[in-house]
Amino acid sequence: MTQQVEPSHEMWSSRWLFVLAAAGSAVGLGNIWKFPYIAGENGGGAFVLLYLVCVAVIGVPIMMAEVMLGREGRRSPINTMMSLTARFRSNRLWVLIGWIGVIAGFLILSYYAVIAGWALSYIGRMAGGTFVGADTSVATNTFEDFLGDPLLMVFWQTLFLLITVWIISKGVVRGLERAIRWFMPLLFVLLVVLLGYSIASNGFQQGWNFMFSFNLEALDQDAVLVAMGQAFFTLSLGMGAIMAYGAYLPSASSIAGTVSVIAVLDTLVAIIAGLVIFPIVFVNGLEPQQGPGLMFVTVPLAFGQMPLGVFFGALFFLLVSFAAITSAISISEPALAYLVEKYKLKRSSIAIVLGFISWILGIGTVLSFSSWSDFYLFGGLTFFDSVDYLSQNIMLPFGGLLIAIFAAYVLPKNIIKQQLGFTGETGMLLWKIFCGGIAPLGVLFVFITSGLGDLFITLFSSVK
Ligand code: TRP
Repeated sequence: MTQQVEPSHEMWSSRWLFVLAAAGSAVGLGNIWKFPYIAGENGGGAFVLLYLVCVAVIGVPIMMAEVMLGREGRRSPINTMMSLTARFRSNRLWVLIGWIGVIAGFLILSYYAVIAGWALSYIGRMAGGTFVGADTSVATNTFEDFLGDPLLMVFWQTLFLLITVWIISKGVVRGLERAIRWFMPLLFVLLVVLLGYSIASNGFQQGWNFMFSFNLEALDQDAVLVAMGQAFFTLSLGMGAIMAYGAYLPSASSIAGTVSVIAVLDTLVAIIAGLVIFPIVFVNGLEPQQGPGLMFVTVPLAFGQMPLGVFFGALFFLLVSFAAITSAISISEPALAYLVEKYKLKRSSIAIVLGFISWILGIGTVLSFSSWSDFYLFGGLTFFDSVDYLSQNIMLPFGGLLIAIFAAYVLPKNIIKQQLGFTGETGMLLWKIFCGGIAPLGVLFVFITSGLGDLFITLFSSVK
């Protein structure tokens, strides 16, 4: 089968760089900011286990499916799905996969930029010594004052979007490759340093127990859905982002091996982030379920007590902001690549429009932490929570469900075998079991058993 390589597409220079880019997409706020706070809200242990299971049995097969579809189609997700459905004479409705990705991308980017803006603003705060020797109340008050200042938040959100737009205008491959090669390992090292600090603190045992003891009672009906949504979010799945990156992957690279490396790296970062944050929570008498501010309160506390904390603290938030940028790039890539193909406009013009739409939407998130904090949309969720819930817990798994079914049943067997490098029948059988069975059924099962059914009922009864 000849690959239809779009002439306008660049290629990753090697499999290893694809791993870096996909890891750059996967590792981001989802691991360091979101995972600890939702694990905290859902009681730790049992939730963490559910999350790990979802990554392994749902995330990994779907990630393989995305890379495979992207590499087979060699276009933006929407056009990849158009070309694949045309080639294999299947229903045009599959193109919905691409559209879900574009819409989910806008929703996610809108609030991602706000949180990344928080991280940006904390670089200066750390460097300025705000947290040197700070106690819990200083750290908490600093964060709460910040939340109460929407204009300041918009400033940082805007700055983050400007940087993102500037980078994505230039084309993904070259710049990203160079940057990721240095920053990602450095972020990892810094997390390990923080881990050392946590291990040495009195709270480590408690933090560890919180994360790994199986406490079923802490789970509510929605926890499974949230754990699954988090698995999708953290691996960047369900919206074509990895598909878009797969379109740049050279044909000879092994998909299964590549995907496993990315999944393991990503999970490791999230677990380490949890093991850093929870001991700090317990030592300082904070609440694990305090929500989105968790990282912004705990991490400054830790650095505030460390020698050279001013320097390392600033570096930490710099690297987190960087991790957020490499993720934001991937969130916008499906929409960007599609619009460039469709309208044949310059990447930069489209990037600006895209950034602007996310900016407007993001204002809602900014306000939901202050003047709109009592304004509830669906089922009692704030604007930010609604956008987050809808994109992460519903759109991504739904997109993933369709991707898995397409990759297991619509793609012809010879293409699957060639893409995944299967020679015998065992590989194919495993593929049908995981991608065609466990992954899609898992998503369906979680959808049905979670509170989603109930949510739809509240949703329609609460919209006024
Ligand atoms: N995975 C990233 C994180 O954990 C966020 C992200 C990047 C993402 N690309 C995505 C989430 C695509 C969903 C879909 O921070």
